[in-house]
Amino acid sequence: MKRFLLLFSMIFSGLLFSQTQLNLIPYPQKVEFQKGEFIIPENFKLDQNLPKQETEYFKKHFSNLFNFMYGKKDEGIHLVNSLFPPKSINESQKKEKYSIEISSDRINISSNTDQGYFLALQTLIQLFEQYKDSGKIPAMKIEDEPKFAWRGMHLDVCRHFFTIEEVKQYIDYLAMYKLNTFHWHLTDDQGWRIEIKKYPKLTQIGSKRKESMIGAYVDNTFDGKPYGPYFYTQDQIKEVVKYATERHITVVPEIEMPGHALAALSAYPELACTKGPFESATKWGVFDDVFCPKDETFTFLQNVLDEVINLFPSQYIHIGGDECPKTRWKECAHCQELIKKNNLKDEHGLQSYFIHRIEKYVNSKGRKIIGWDEILEGGLAPNAAVMSWTGIKGGTEAAKSGHFAVMTPGSYCYFDHYQGDPQTEPNAFGGFTPLEKVYSYNPIPSELNAEQSKYILGVQANLWTEYILDFKQVQYMIFPRLFALSEVGWGTSKPENYKGFENRVVEHFKILDKMNINYAKSIYNISGKVIPNSNGVSYELSTSQDPSGIKFTIDGSEPKSNSATYQNPIPVSKEMTVKSAYFENGELKSAISSQNFSTSKTTGKKITLENQPSENYSFGGAFTLVDGIIGNVKQLGKTWLGFQGKDVVATIDLGEKTQFSEVYFNTLDNKGSWIHFAKSATISISDDGKNFKTVKEIGKDEILKAKGKINLKVGNQSAKFLKIKIENAGIIPAGNPGADSKAWLFVDEIGAQ
Ligand code: ACM
Ligand code: ZN
Repeated sequence: MKRFLLLFSMIFSGLLFSQTQLNLIPYPQKVEFQKGEFIIPENFKLDQNLPKQETEYFKKHFSNLFNFMYGKKDEGIHLVNSLFPPKSINESQKKEKYSIEISSDRINISSNTDQGYFLALQTLIQLFEQYKDSGKIPAMKIEDEPKFAWRGMHLDVCRHFFTIEEVKQYIDYLAMYKLNTFHWHLTDDQGWRIEIKKYPKLTQIGSKRKESMIGAYVDNTFDGKPYGPYFYTQDQIKEVVKYATERHITVVPEIEMPGHALAALSAYPELACTKGPFESATKWGVFDDVFCPKDETFTFLQNVLDEVINLFPSQYIHIGGDECPKTRWKECAHCQELIKKNNLKDEHGLQSYFIHRIEKYVNSKGRKIIGWDEILEGGLAPNAAVMSWTGIKGGTEAAKSGHFAVMTPGSYCYFDHYQGDPQTEPNAFGGFTPLEKVYSYNPIPSELNAEQSKYILGVQANLWTEYILDFKQVQYMIFPRLFALSEVGWGTSKPENYKGFENRVVEHFKILDKMNINYAKSIYNISGKVIPNSNGVSYELSTSQDPSGIKFTIDGSEPKSNSATYQNPIPVSKEMTVKSAYFENGELKSAISSQNFSTSKTTGKKITLENQPSENYSFGGAFTLVDGIIGNVKQLGKTWLGFQGKDVVATIDLGEKTQFSEVYFNTLDNKGSWIHFAKSATISISDDGKNFKTVKEIGKDEILKAKGKINLKVGNQSAKFLKIKIENAGIIPAGNPGADSKAWLFVDEIGAQ
């Protein structure tokens, strides 16, 4: 009997614990639940010896809920802080380590530093948010510290400018989620945004541009409106640095060199290889006019850096280094002379010379440099750290050679990419980096051993603002992806537990709602998948949430809470639009997804390809070409297949002898991305799938004239097999981006009617 009871109570307590889901982001390293609970008192007493500034931050957060008062130890204190008992030097150097012990009558924080205490308070704020309504917090012990020392977010204020009030809000978001580094991208081609007293023209001239690009890059459209002058005075910068410091956030300033320098050159054209005049860029992209490595330029940059170093106490100064075309240096007598004089290999050696010289100067001021991948070009400067953005190669190489690296690879950490179906999202840079992808990131490259891994300082996400027009959109692009970054940097993300993370994200949406923060709702979005059926295709809808919340229409109207509930794949008829959305308790939670279909006699039929598409552009494989969905130019990663240097040779098995008189297909032209129209197309038919007869051939002129949308009359045909060969443009001709490389051929939907 006794044994039975014991078993019973074990099961019971197990149940109790499993119901306790802590809505903490980032999730702590270790949580141990204990018996009892802490009743949140109306008059919350704080030990008068608590670090003042951090405690005031905590009080302010809950000032409308509880009365806070300071008291003495013997007055029934509810919140105390103590130093960790000294264990070893190594332990006491851990600045961000903390523990929280919640018992029935008090909360005891242990930390080594005010920073550790501040991080503990962030955890406590989230616990209070979760339990304030019930008025009691389960007793527990949390032991916590981050895995990575650099947990950063970057903000580009050059392409679009954000006020210091907005920048402070951004810093608040970092603090709430235990990020500790704010990378402030202050100079670029489109604007110089930091006052430099010695060079007033930088902001008088360089903080303005004539107009700005609007819409998609390929549209090449401008708004005609002067932008600026927009910049921060040194007093404003000091104010932001102070604000961040109070929140234990390091501000790392970035001053771009030798490239991305047009705004600076517009003010001081004598620092370029050619005479100018120059203007701040109105387009996005990379520009040929860069700093010329002459003494005058180094004097200028050193004077600028002197003022920057005085304003920012950070250990690292970011000196850019990315995307510096060598076009001007190749043609510049001074640059060529410098290459010879210093025995440099080429212009990449000159880039290395440039960065080495700047590093020496920055080091002489007691600081270190960090730069984008390209500072590896021609040899890394001795003490430089690398910010690895083009992938993980730069960071891997740096770590292997004993240099520190911050990982920020585009495909996981660029928050200017789309996070949901581009059709339902505001215009973005391109790329697709949804929440789950960010969450799956492991900043330690797999090929590093334990010793080399120590050089991975941490992880950062970047927010470039070419397509981000205002602060509401800044919020939208960073939330909820910042939550994933936070947990990746803290080192407690587990990709296999993504679902549990998503549940916590939904809880944190309530905090964002309360703060009036705009965030992306892509996690509620409906995913659609086309599947073949016996007479064409069906459209299957799914959600990571409760499937009974999916509502849809097929009459073009917007789905409402009382629209049809999705149950089975929807059979697709000839011209049809499926609109779907996710509802919870009658409330619309997702964006409205809309999918047009245009089916033909090939739709859902068996298709084989002689050459396979490139991995990054293989979407749903060959079936993509007969799924009844016509490619959308905004979705290169979806609906289109991409072939580099290869022809498309597709054979469609129509199942039985079928009559048709017209064959159509779609190709793309975007020379900036190395995508070219096809050279020719050939259509042939067969009854046995072996012997084919050509029924139509067209050349380049016809394809160019049709602008990619090819609709061919083939005469009245009847056949079981349809074969189409679409010829790749081949090697990209001189004078085009990517000249001498293999061209891309993008194709979608091969139809017959
Ligand atoms: C970068 O995205 N050009 C660092
Ligand atoms: Zn030059």
